[in-house]
Amino acid sequence: MRVVIQENYEKMCLWAANLIVDAINGHKGDKPFVLGLPTGSSPLGVYRNLIQMNKDGKVSFKNVVTFNMDEYVGLPHEHDQSYWYFMHENFFNHIDLPEQNINMLNGMAEDLEAECAEYEKRIASYGGIDLFMGGIGVDGHIAFNEPFTSLASRTGVRTLTTDTRIVNSRFFGNDMNKVPATAVSVGVGTVFDSKCVLVLINGHAKARALAHTVEGAMSQMWTCSALQMHNNAIIACDEAACGELKVDTYKYFLDIEKSQRI
Ligand code: GLP
Repeated sequence: MRVVIQENYEKMCLWAANLIVDAINGHKGDKPFVLGLPTGSSPLGVYRNLIQMNKDGKVSFKNVVTFNMDEYVGLPHEHDQSYWYFMHENFFNHIDLPEQNINMLNGMAEDLEAECAEYEKRIASYGGIDLFMGGIGVDGHIAFNEPFTSLASRTGVRTLTTDTRIVNSRFFGNDMNKVPATAVSVGVGTVFDSKCVLVLINGHAKARALAHTVEGAMSQMWTCSALQMHNNAIIACDEAACGELKVDTYKYFLDIEKSQRI
């Protein structure tokens, strides 16, 4: 696991955006580059950087296909808290990504199980995901894979924990009851199958989750810890999120990054 510690949120986002741009630009072959994407506040700065780099002609998304991680059940596209709305508002509407290249789980599907099974097939039809960017919840959930979701899980319906609904209620007028109780989400196994996984972890509130991801035992209690078994997992974090890491862990990852730059 590579842990890249940046001084602050802005630097973390720029670093992550550059990694994505390099991956897209370095992609060879006829197949499109397949990019997995998250919602949440963590990736917003990355999206801002990618939009600017697209406008500056440093990257094009014309040969990119995207798959989003998750979606609330029961929110229509036009609901301003649906992830469909979020992604269009904050990213898709501002770049040259063809609309037909966007894949998102439909939380309004009549048969949610069939929707999830089809999503897995669609990912497979592109030969899997080249780079999956994600964020994590304060309880370490990746996508909507709450504690106790199997580390081998595939795309499916998830019941959100009360904690997650409380945390996410800040987007629903601070009313937890307005936060959907279920979501559709790629599985930990789905994320794990990606060739590269990039996870953004920033802010004091995520310090405990970062420590469990990097130093803790691999456990379904902290689904993000599954990344310890991935051979190309990168955590991009800011200083604020490092508060619960051991001093030696912190220093070691800084040393590794320094040596890579030489
Ligand atoms: C939601 C999403 C996750 C996201 C998490 C963290 O629960 N389903 O994919 O990683 O929130 O969000 P934030 O980045 O706002 O802390």
